[in-house]
Order: sequence, then C-alpha cells, then structure tokens
Amino acid sequence: MRHLMSPLDLSREELEQLMDLADDIKLHPDVYSEKCHGKKLATCFYEPSTRTRLSFEAAMLNLGGSVLGFSSADSSSAAKGESVSDTIRVISSYADICAMRHPKEGAPLVASQRSLIPVINAGDGGHQHPTQTLTDLFTIRSLRGEIKNLTIGLCGDLKFGRTVHSLINALVRYPGIKFVLISPEELRVPEYIREDVLDKNGFEYKEVDSLDNVMGELDILYMTRVQRERFFNEEDYIRLKDFFILTKEKMHLAKKDMMVLHPLPRVNEIAVDVDDDPRAMYFEQAKNGVFIRMALILTLLELV
Ligand code: NCD
Repeated sequence: MRHLMSPLDLSREELEQLMDLADDIKLHPDVYSEKCHGKKLATCFYEPSTRTRLSFEAAMLNLGGSVLGFSSADSSSAAKGESVSDTIRVISSYADICAMRHPKEGAPLVASQRSLIPVINAGDGGHQHPTQTLTDLFTIRSLRGEIKNLTIGLCGDLKFGRTVHSLINALVRYPGIKFVLISPEELRVPEYIREDVLDKNGFEYKEVDSLDNVMGELDILYMTRVQRERFFNEEDYIRLKDFFILTKEKMHLAKKDMMVLHPLPRVNEIAVDVDDDPRAMYFEQAKNGVFIRMALILTLLELV
C-alpha cells in the first residue's frame, strides 16, 4: 500500500506516468467515469480549503466513486481530543482512500503509519503540499510540452508557503531549471530547503527582494499568498502582506510567453486586471488539479 506525503515519494518516471494518465483522463473522461465505482474517498480536513478538498471530491465523483469527510477540526472528534492515529484507524474501515489536511507538520505522516488505506497529504502546516505540486507540474508540462530549461521565479511567502517547498523539492530533479527566489528578507525559504534541497543538489538559484528587477528573466512566475495563519503576530503580517503586488503594468516587464501561476487563494498579490492577460494561467492550473488528482486516486488504488 502506498501513501503520498511528499512529491519525492514518486520517482520522475512515476510522475511522468501520472501526468500521462491525467492527459488521457482530460481527453477521454468517459473512459474513466466508472473506474472507482463502489470506492469511497474520505476527505479529513482540519484546516480550511476550497480547491484542494473540492477538487479531490470532484475527482472521486468523476471516477464514479463516492465521498465522505469533514472540513474543519471543530466538526470532527479532534475537538474532543482524538488523535489523528485513532481517527485514521476508524476511517480505514469506512473508506478506501483518504486525503488529509492538517495544520501540524507531519500529522498526515503519523496518520499514514496507522492507516489501513492509502493516505494523501493534502497540506501539512508550512511543510509540504504534494498534490498542489502535481497540479503545478502538470500545468507546466501541458503548457510547455516538457519540464526543462526554465527560469522559475517563486515570489511571496517562501518561508511558510508549503506549495513552494514541495515544488522546489520536485523541480530540482528536472534538467536546466533555475530558481529566482523573490521574497522579503523575513520570508526567505527555510534553511532546510536551502541546504538540504538546493545546495545539496548543487542547484542554481538566487535570492532577491525585488520582483521588477528580475521579471524580464522569468519563464514562469509562481506567485504566492502571505500565509497569515502561520504568522506569530498580526503586525508582521500587515507589514509584509502587500510587499509584492503583480499588476497589469508590471506584466509589461515580462517575456511575451511568461506564464503566471498561483496555487490560489489569491488575496492582494495579483491585481484582478491581470486575470485577462493570456499569460495568467492560475485558473487553468486550478482546473488541472481535478485531472491529476483523478490520476493519483486511480494509481494509489491500483486501478490502472
Ligand atoms: C495553498 C495551500 O493550502 O497551501 N492552497 C491550495 O491548496 N491551493 C496555498 C495557500 O493557501 O496560500
């Protein structure tokens, strides 16, 4: 039985297979519409979510399966003090696969160790968010044909942004990728990402605090939200929240084919008028999340 805690749980070859499957699902949805007949997905979300939970649910429904679950810690027995280990043990007898989001780093991993069904990490604190990474890789590959020779700007809250951590982890395995890490000093990528992932792989990257100065170099700009819920005080959040705002004017500095991605939700970091720019791909990205999650569910349930 396999779980998904980090994008590194999948080899590069397995990632390609997953994306090939997602491509096929996108082209021929009818072929897959009954593949999960009789199967159930549990979504155990101890933290807010729109896209991740609903795209998981849509994915299972599109496969002919059913869904059950909870969408906040308050409405589950966590509010009574139950551990994730006990919860997953019980859910293992109600469902065939589980997607779990938790504010504590490592909670889905702890759950997976007691689980009798595959567990997917749907975001654990400021740590990892592997299925967002699958969505990001799938979007890049769909738009560029391959994931290779790209300068990728990661902009915003690189300290607490789990989507950024997972994406860096995954992308260091692809050829010709360069990172431009764009953040205020206080929100730089954590040391373990810099040392254990970037430096260890001899990876090319630079850290800057101005978006304008590097816009023209980028093939992809991955914007992120300042993660308010992970700040220790509100004053710091208020000071940093609007540090970077991508506007229509700033888009003039970018390459004609630069792609703007964002895991969403957006707060202020992308002005709404950027949405009409053909280079704004974040809504397309969110749409892709369903196909890649369908591919993941089929793979973990060994139905392909
Ligand atoms: C992200 C998350 O939850 O980490 N959202 C998502 O799943 N698409 C990004 C965020 O909340 O900023």
